[in-house]
Formats: sequence, structure tokens, C-alpha cells
Amino acid sequence: MTDAFPLDGRGVVVTGGSRGIGAAVVRLALEQGADVVFGYHSGEERARALAEELSAAHPGRRCTPLRVDVADAADAGRFAATALDRLDRFDALVNNAGVTRDTLFARMAPRQWHEVIGTNLDSMYTVTKPLLMPLVKQRSGAVVNIASSSGLHGIPGQTAYSAAKAGVVGFTKALAKEVGSRGVTVNAVAPGLIETDMTAAIPEDKADFLKSLIPGHAFGTPEDVAHLVCFLASERARYITGQAIEIAGGLVV
Ligand SMILES: NC(=O)c1ccc[n+]([C@@H]2O[C@H](COP(=O)([O-])OP(=O)(O)OC[C@H]3O[C@@H](n4cnc5c(N)ncnc54)[C@H](OP(=O)(O)O)[C@@H]3O)[C@@H](O)[C@H]2O)c1
Repeated sequence: MTDAFPLDGRGVVVTGGSRGIGAAVVRLALEQGADVVFGYHSGEERARALAEELSAAHPGRRCTPLRVDVADAADAGRFAATALDRLDRFDALVNNAGVTRDTLFARMAPRQWHEVIGTNLDSMYTVTKPLLMPLVKQRSGAVVNIASSSGLHGIPGQTAYSAAKAGVVGFTKALAKEVGSRGVTVNAVAPGLIETDMTAAIPEDKADFLKSLIPGHAFGTPEDVAHLVCFLASERARYITGQAIEIAGGLVV
């Protein structure tokens, strides 16, 4: 195994892998030698195009897209079972799927609250539950959960999202303590502001203000996050667990 291939021969499952941070994780995991199953929700065409591109670029590896609504336990259970079926071995789960529905709490509709909690937090249960035991039984593996600076600090207009992502951090720390003795690590990555469709929706004046809170005055890239995620998913990070690592360019909120 060389430095360039820390995930050589590993099996990795990524939710929300069709675009943004998830797609960068899928891409890098394949570059680092993994076989990958990734989930998408509404973007079937985009997911298939990504899988075709990456399968062609990495002929020895497998890259499989599967549709899943991570907020739905039955759907997530089917996704997990199919993912395990498609992989020769399973070593790492990246819980990345997420949505925002930004609005002031006073104006928040029940649907907005439930969509945000369902996709960002319920998914920690629905997806991790069926995929944890295989890691525990083989006594090795990694779970990497994508949280957010919003969950660490609280951001106005994001009460549901901050609550969900803070929940992801608590879930991560507790689960790390439950499965540490079985050789399984559980960590959270908390991105700040990253250039994806999620942040493209931020109005320009607000984006400029947010950039003024970042020492380098720029949003991060999905690749910045993917490198940390793939490191935590690899054996290299075997002695890191129960952490929430912020990757935010020094953002102060
Ligand atoms: N971008 C940022 O600045 C930032 C900052 C902090 C944290 N994060 C977190 O990082 C993660 C990725 O964010 P991103 O910016 O890359 O988001 P994105 O570009 O909006 O992509 C979201 C991904 O999640 C999938 N998804 C959405 N709802 C789903 C559902 N119900 N079931 C399954 N998959 C679903 C989407 O699939 P389809 O496209 O197929 O629907 C897509 O692949 C999220 O957890 C987000 O909260 C992002």
C-alpha cells in the first residue's frame, strides 16, 4: 500500500454521493483504491453519469449508485442490504446526505423542521443501524458522519439544521464509546461554508458577509472536506475516534 492508496481494496458506502461533498468523497475514495456504493435521492441521471465516469476512470474498481431516502427507515434498510451485497468487503460508512430549509424559527413550518431532522439526524439511525453490525463483527471499520459548523456554534435561520447537526455530534461521540472496543471508529466532520449547491443558494450579499468571517475570505471546496473524510475512513486514522473535526477555514461565527 502506498501513500496514494490508503483505501486500497476497501469497501466504502457514502450517502448523498451524487453531488457536492458526497460526490467529492466518492471520487477520492475511488482514486485511493476503494470500491464504492453511493446513495442518491432525486438526482438519478447525475448519479448514473458520475458512476459511469468513475467506473471508466478506474477500470479495476466498482462504483455503484443506489437510490435511497435516508429519512425513511425501510428504504435505508433496503439500501444498506443492497450495498453490502454489491461490495466484496465493507469497511467504512460516510453518512453525508443532508438538506437545509433555512428560515427564522418563528416562521418555520412543521414540514421544514421534519425534513431537516429526518434527513440530517434520523438518517444517523436509519443508515447506521443496518451497517454497524458488519463492522462490529469484523472488528474493524470506520463511520464518518458529516455534521456542520452550524451544529457546533448555532447559526440564526438554521435552528432545525443546527439542532440536527448538534445531534450528529452527540450521536458520534456516544457511538464511538460503544464500539471502540470492537475496533470501529466513529467521527464527525463539521464543514463550515463549502462551495456546493447548498451554499450556491445563499444570496450574494450574505455570502460576502459570511466570507468576511473567514480569515482567508473564501469558501472551502468539496475536495477540502473529502480529504479529511477519506483519511478518517482509512486505517491511518485508527487511533482517532469520538471527534468532531471542524473544517471551516477558521470561520468565526
Ligand atoms: N455545503 C456546505 O457548506 C456544508 C456545510 C456544512 C455541512 N454540510 C453538510 O455536508 C453534507 C453534504 O452537503 P452538500 O453541500 O454537498 O449538499 P448538496 O450539494 O446539496 O448535496 C446533498 C446530497 O444529499 C442527497 N440527499 C438529499 N436529501 C436526501 C434524502 N432524503 N435521502 C438521501 N439523500 C439525500 C442529495 O441527493 P440528490 O441530489 O440525488 O437528491 C445530494 O447527493 C450535508 O450533510 C450537509 O448538511 C455542507
